[in-house]
Amino acid sequence: MRTVDLIEKKASGFALNEDEIRFLIDGYVKGDIPDYQMSAFMMAVRLKGMTPQETASLTLTMMHSGEVADLSGLKGIKLDKHSTGGVGDTTTLAVAPLVAACGGTVAKMSGRGLGHTGGTLDKLESIPGTSVEIPMDRFIDIVRENGVAVIGQTQNLVPADKMMYALRDVTATVRSIPLIASSIMSKKLASGADAIVLDVKTGSGAFMRSKEEAFELARLMVKIGSLMGRKVAALITDMNQPLGMAVGNALEVKEAIELLSGKINPSDPLYEVCMLLGVQLLKMAGLADSDSDARSSLRAAIDSGEGLRRLQRMIELQGGDASYVSLDKIDELLNVKKKIDIRSTKEGYISVIQAEKIGTAAQMLGAGRETKADTIDPSVGLVMKVRCGDHIGFDEPLATFYVNDETRLEEAVKLFREAIVISDQKPERVPMVYAVITENDTL
Ligand code: URA
Ligand code: CA
Repeated sequence: MRTVDLIEKKASGFALNEDEIRFLIDGYVKGDIPDYQMSAFMMAVRLKGMTPQETASLTLTMMHSGEVADLSGLKGIKLDKHSTGGVGDTTTLAVAPLVAACGGTVAKMSGRGLGHTGGTLDKLESIPGTSVEIPMDRFIDIVRENGVAVIGQTQNLVPADKMMYALRDVTATVRSIPLIASSIMSKKLASGADAIVLDVKTGSGAFMRSKEEAFELARLMVKIGSLMGRKVAALITDMNQPLGMAVGNALEVKEAIELLSGKINPSDPLYEVCMLLGVQLLKMAGLADSDSDARSSLRAAIDSGEGLRRLQRMIELQGGDASYVSLDKIDELLNVKKKIDIRSTKEGYISVIQAEKIGTAAQMLGAGRETKADTIDPSVGLVMKVRCGDHIGFDEPLATFYVNDETRLEEAVKLFREAIVISDQKPERVPMVYAVITENDTL
């Protein structure tokens, strides 16, 4: 086999077989195939696409490029969740403990936030002492005891993806549905879970700008999962505004604690998305027969405080100071130099909140990283005071900024203001969740 012939085949629109895909991926990881050939191949994929079978072969090959987690030490169906990356997306910190409280086994490996989306690991590390780098056997022990633990991806998980992603980033090949699907699913499958719920975001703050693309990506990932013998369900959710009100690390932990303490209204999007994610996990785990059954269990885990206790215990077992995981003490992690209200300059209806810009504004305050080497300030960020469709008067607060370092404050405020459009007419309400895709939807 010659690499150039395989690039030619893909560029001419033909499907590659599994051996051909393995030749490319293994060759690239070993260093036999140079970056320029892999770049050309991935551009051919971006332009010509891949069949679901091809994408499954790519996923499988990528998955086996490194270590595959062995969760066989845990009984029952191991659960995982993944979000394609959102702003104000605090769902993991709420859903994972709630599902554990309902009897689920949640062994989750998370990634770090880069750019405008926040990462669960950074949020966890905002609680003093908490470690997300835990050896595999200890991770399994914690999950066995508490039903839930969240750690960073192991070093050697899907090295092919690390190499390919770095290349995609600089060759305009990120926005390819088969490449995104194989990137996400290879990591999820290598993490060892039996059942996975995916939250595929669509809108201004998401990878998938259009709903059509989000549906295609979701169906493809569910299908890859079932071809590999795993259960996968996907929600398609809106990212035309931040999901929760908080954008920042300790701020988002606080919002998760609020949810677990029953302080978040069931009509709030964050609550609803958490419920739907939890419902899918409980059903796939065989812990609920119906949606309503699953919902009542999840609600009971909020009302009894058991969900919050699971999060506290998880933090404790991961070396953190669990006393912060309470509404009484979490504010101590939010002691910033300045809290600044950003006020509206006119009256009207909030018609647009561009999530990406809101996320970037929070990042400029120090809540996120621009490059991998940047450090995060866990206390900073912003709390939205409005959602799309709300009416706002002149000089009323749109958000509160939590600020320590003011170097980029002005820039952050400017970007934040650009993100929000206030109009005279009341905009139509957009749904928060567009669909739930399960295996049956891909047949
Ligand atoms: N997230 C991933 O892990 N990979 C992609 O390609 C896009 C989003
Ligand atoms: Ca996230």
